[in-house]
Amino acid sequence: MAINKQQVRTALTHVMHPQMEKDLVTLDMIEDLVVQDTFITFTIDLPEKDTKLEAKLKEKCEQAIRKFVDEDAVLDINTAVNISKFRDNEDKGEFPGQGHRQKKEQEDEEADALSGVKNVIAVASGKGGVGKSTVAVNLACGLARTGAKVGLLDTDIYGPSIPTMMNTHERPNITTSKKLIPMKKYGVRFLSMGLLVDPDQAMIWRGPMVTSAVKQFMNEVEWGELDYLVLDLPPGTGDIQLTLVQTVPLTGSVIVSTPQDVALDDARKGVAMFKKVNVPVLGIVENMAYFIPEDMPDKKYHIFGKHGARNLAERIGTNFLGEIPLEQKVRESGDEGKPIVLDEDLDSVSAKKFVELSNNVIQQLAIRNKEQDPTEKIDIKIKP
Ligand SMILES: Nc1ncnc2c1ncn2[C@@H]1O[C@H](COP(=O)(O)OP(=O)(O)OP(=O)(O)O)[C@@H](O)[C@H]1O
Ligand SMILES: [Mg+2]
Repeated sequence: MAINKQQVRTALTHVMHPQMEKDLVTLDMIEDLVVQDTFITFTIDLPEKDTKLEAKLKEKCEQAIRKFVDEDAVLDINTAVNISKFRDNEDKGEFPGQGHRQKKEQEDEEADALSGVKNVIAVASGKGGVGKSTVAVNLACGLARTGAKVGLLDTDIYGPSIPTMMNTHERPNITTSKKLIPMKKYGVRFLSMGLLVDPDQAMIWRGPMVTSAVKQFMNEVEWGELDYLVLDLPPGTGDIQLTLVQTVPLTGSVIVSTPQDVALDDARKGVAMFKKVNVPVLGIVENMAYFIPEDMPDKKYHIFGKHGARNLAERIGTNFLGEIPLEQKVRESGDEGKPIVLDEDLDSVSAKKFVELSNNVIQQLAIRNKEQDPTEKIDIKIKP
């Protein structure tokens, strides 16, 4: 159940102004209240600057919302001095009360959100722009080529790529029980934050808002039965990624890197992040391993270095899942929205390599599932 403004206002009637002996709602001190899913923002208007009072009121508001509305709400509370407003302020009376949300009900809903999904695979990298989305999309379509039921979820709010790479820009439909229905193309069910949130709007979101939105997003999709759900993560190994990888019980992760040192350093951080939260690393993919010119397909140019990711995998005892060349066709197929791995005849080296990669991932998942217990979901609290 989503939070509504009235619940928040009701909670704030429990916050008393220490000198005025009335609550903040009655005193008309709450302005610009916006509630979006579990994200709540508002401004406390004050008649004059008072840093101590501001801090105290913010703290009390937070406590009230956590107690009466949602202990996991993501809060952004601001203060502003509004002299004119309070000059002739009148008592506005009590705000009508309303009960707080049924937390238990929400938790039950979340528990079975991914119950029909056999394997959840996160595609990640430390560094941006190394080809995570390209690998995620081609991996998903490559897995679907085997006849498996596959889902693909783009969790990158700031820079969603899947709508372009799958050439789909419509908004998804919603079931009567308010679950999102994934889009379907090339035998893959997929969803992107980019189909739901205006990226320009998302740019101003802070980390906790992103993780909160994605968490809710992941739990409110009608995936149905899936053999594999591939998650395309945003670049980096910060709080957002850490929260994301703990939001769902991931079966394993695939780390993408180019052979370059700067990318390898970040890839190592990516591996460390997954190990820290006990998510098995299925292996490393070397993308842009070498350049193949279109007019000289037999040539290989190691423009970002040679075997960097392969060597890293060996050094840190992780599997090497394969190398994908840098080919113009990969970029073109991404921009056109038809992943190269779908090429019937597998004409390009990259298409063949993506098929190999998908097979290696299937193999590593089988080994992982035989040797290790399912990953447990960690319940984490998002603090603003
Ligand atoms: N092997 C490749 N050959 C040619 N172009 C590629 C290859 N891999 C990725 N690209 C291109 O490089 C660009 C970046 O790739 P992509 O968007 O997949 O990276 P990313 O790691 O997901 O980026 P971000 O960190 O922004 O999410 C895209 O234009 C893509 O088409
Ligand atoms: Mg991406």
